[in-house]
Amino acid sequence: MRIGLVGLGRIGAFHARTLTDLPSVDELLVADALPDLARSVGEPLGATVVPEPVDILSAGVDGVVIASSTVTHPDLIRACVKAGIPTFCEKPVSASAKEAVALRDDLAGCDTPVHIGFPRRFDAAYVAAKADLDAGRLGYVHTLRSTTLDPAPPPEEYIRGSGGIFNDCAIHDFDSVRFMTGQEVVEVYAAGATQGIDYIRDAGDAETVTSILTLSGGTLAVVSNSRANGRGHDVRLELLGSKDSVSAGLDDKLPLRSADPTVTFPAGKPWHFFMDRLENAFRAELTAFTEVVAGTRPSPCTLHDGVEASLVAAAATLSWREHRPVLVDEVR
Ligand SMILES: NC(=O)c1ccc[n+]([C@@H]2O[C@H](COP(=O)([O-])OP(=O)(O)OC[C@H]3O[C@@H](n4cnc5c(N)ncnc54)[C@H](O)[C@@H]3O)[C@@H](O)[C@H]2O)c1
Repeated sequence: MRIGLVGLGRIGAFHARTLTDLPSVDELLVADALPDLARSVGEPLGATVVPEPVDILSAGVDGVVIASSTVTHPDLIRACVKAGIPTFCEKPVSASAKEAVALRDDLAGCDTPVHIGFPRRFDAAYVAAKADLDAGRLGYVHTLRSTTLDPAPPPEEYIRGSGGIFNDCAIHDFDSVRFMTGQEVVEVYAAGATQGIDYIRDAGDAETVTSILTLSGGTLAVVSNSRANGRGHDVRLELLGSKDSVSAGLDDKLPLRSADPTVTFPAGKPWHFFMDRLENAFRAELTAFTEVVAGTRPSPCTLHDGVEASLVAAAATLSWREHRPVLVDEVR
């Protein structure tokens, strides 16, 4: 199959390498708003470099992967879907929940599949933990803890176009909460702080946030995020149940030291960033997208799922700004 890839920054260049390696992808066409970047990423991989991103759509591709800046996502998704091209788009759907909802309304009734990229859904440990829960081995989950901690912040320009830490980073956890439990988020109470990275504060954003979520089935979830976790990239989830408890991400490369001198776990070099921590998940995710393109499976994470996560992020942002619990229905 022929796949078009739009956007070749941090994640786009990484996806380009993964896509060229997938046996089902015969040709990769790449484009970026910066043509020199497109050439420098695409040519060594043997990809076809398309000078104008918009030309990817008319190049007769079987599917499009959108990995450009967040603000570009709604227009690109809309254009691909209206052209009938199966579309993968990196999270989040948009910089604001309002735009995400408008896009969902605009595309209602279109049957072209859209797959929103939330790689934790494809992490082997997350999948195994969900299987434990679905099989009843955990009993009911009284508490879910979900963590995404980055070792270093993205650049200032990225922060300003991201929609804020809840929309850009915590959204991974908000999607995990929905995906793992099958419950919807009813209410959010969030707090935020900035201690070390001034340009994040200057952008009206927070460096570190915690959100407490009340879920429709009665589970409480605690979501923790930071841009300043120097020890490494910590992506982890705990399902604490009435019968048993399980963690995903509690492996030898966990970026956390035990202060107990008798404990040697975790023994490995800490995960550095999302590229190494989630490499296998990204590969599984893009493989799944090629199956969506081939028509052998439905989208594993629909536009609706992406919009619901955006709404939770909007509720969390409002809660942090106004220092009060916010019902997700309030921002719907
Ligand atoms: N799933 C994940 O874990 C994950 C990780 C990182 C980033 N992301 C998402 O991927 C997207 C990109 O993030 P990034 O870190 O690679 O950002 P980045 O700033 O490094 O790269 C963005 C690229 O998009 C290009 N671009 C901007 N407008 C364009 C347009 N109209 N057409 C074509 N190209 C355009 C820019 O030139 C740049 O090369 C963001 O939405 C981000 O949220 C997801």
